[in-house]
Amino acid sequence: MKKTLITGVNGQDGSYLSEFLLAKGYEVYGIVRRSSTFNRWRIDHLHRHLFDRHKNFHLEYGDLTDSSSLMRIMKKVMPDEIYNLGAQSHVQVSFETPEYSADVDGLGALRLIEAMRILGLDKTAKFFQASTSEMFGKVVETPQNEDTPFYPRSPYGVAKLYAHWIVKNYREAYGLFGVNGILFNHESPRRGENFVTKKISQGLVRVKLGLQNTVKLGNLEAKRDWGYAKEYMEAVWLMMQQEQPDDYIIATGENHSVREFIEEVCRNLDISLIWQGSGREEKGIDAKTKKVIIELDDHYLRPAEVDTLKGDSSKAKKILNWQPKVTFKELVRIMVGYDLKSIQHSGDKEFLID
Ligand code: NAP
Ligand code: GDD
Repeated sequence: MKKTLITGVNGQDGSYLSEFLLAKGYEVYGIVRRSSTFNRWRIDHLHRHLFDRHKNFHLEYGDLTDSSSLMRIMKKVMPDEIYNLGAQSHVQVSFETPEYSADVDGLGALRLIEAMRILGLDKTAKFFQASTSEMFGKVVETPQNEDTPFYPRSPYGVAKLYAHWIVKNYREAYGLFGVNGILFNHESPRRGENFVTKKISQGLVRVKLGLQNTVKLGNLEAKRDWGYAKEYMEAVWLMMQQEQPDDYIIATGENHSVREFIEEVCRNLDISLIWQGSGREEKGIDAKTKKVIIELDDHYLRPAEVDTLKGDSSKAKKILNWQPKVTFKELVRIMVGYDLKSIQHSGDKEFLID
């Protein structure tokens, strides 16, 4: 049985990857941080204390800023595959916490691969780094592929670029099997609540159910290449099964604006939305109730914005035989469907795992 170690196991991607690997027969070890309130709803179904606990799923306390904890866990587990999904992953928050974001998102990866080297795991184990399309930032060409130059636009993007290059460096210097998956935005019902897709889906569902008046947003014109997180985790695993380590773009090749995302959510909720006003005074109105349901709030504008991202994943298609199946419209339908169900069931996420 193969052993795997996952950082960020209780995050969106960590939860899907854990399910995927358990189904493949792996023994999964995940690293979690102590927090004053429990934040494990995405993995509770794998790690219940009161009911059946999955016999091959284990959690260890650690932190990407704490080398000793990473070393201890790695020595205990001696994994075959390590997936570094842990990060302070919110771009806007990285402007508020730049040093911390650099520590976790940049140096965190270095701490893991150094621990591998010290324990001799660089000779036996494989390492995956969750790189990001944010590294392309102010894009120099469209669509972006593995050879497109980077131009990060946030402390998060800069920190992730360090991690990306240090993995490449260890590959060249020490022969580490280190893979960078350059993942474009991927979403799901399990997406964190302050990322724009989830904020819109959940917010407009609450508006529809009369639980909230409006959704306040920043820049509606930004365009993202949004895919479905669950199928991106299969691509991540496939990269780790290759003979040679390499870097791969994972994307849908299609992009849409935040405004289009709002409109598609409204279509799913049978809300006829009309836009009124211009500039930062623009508002989204529900034509039936005449109520303002979308407002602009400068609080959500970033000091530097990434205007557009669109990925070319033809290398992944050719080498990994991977391509996305879930379309933009299907993704919105999945997210809205889940939010309707979970909010109507008073947010009882544990029993509504998608
Ligand atoms: P997420 O839901 O925000 O999950 C992040 C995970 O990292 C959480 O489990 C979090 O634990 C953990 N974490 C944060 N700080 C940590 C620390 N100091 N030490 C250990 N763990 C820490 O993110 P995601 O969407 O699943 O993304 C997974 C990875 O892919 C991240 O590295 C992200 O930057 C990268 N990525 C994501 C996307 C995307 O569109 N989703 C695209 C490109 C790259 P807590 O719950 O305790 O905070
Ligand atoms: N979060 C948020 N909240 N974003 C908003 C809002 C708002 O109220 N209003 C507009 N936006 C815009 C942002 O300015 C950005 O242009 C876009 O919506 C997407 O924002 P996020 O959903 O926060 O995602 P992101 O693209 O900044 O970052 C995500 O994708 C990266 C990959 O490109 C994160 O998952 C990163 O961890 C990931 O690396």
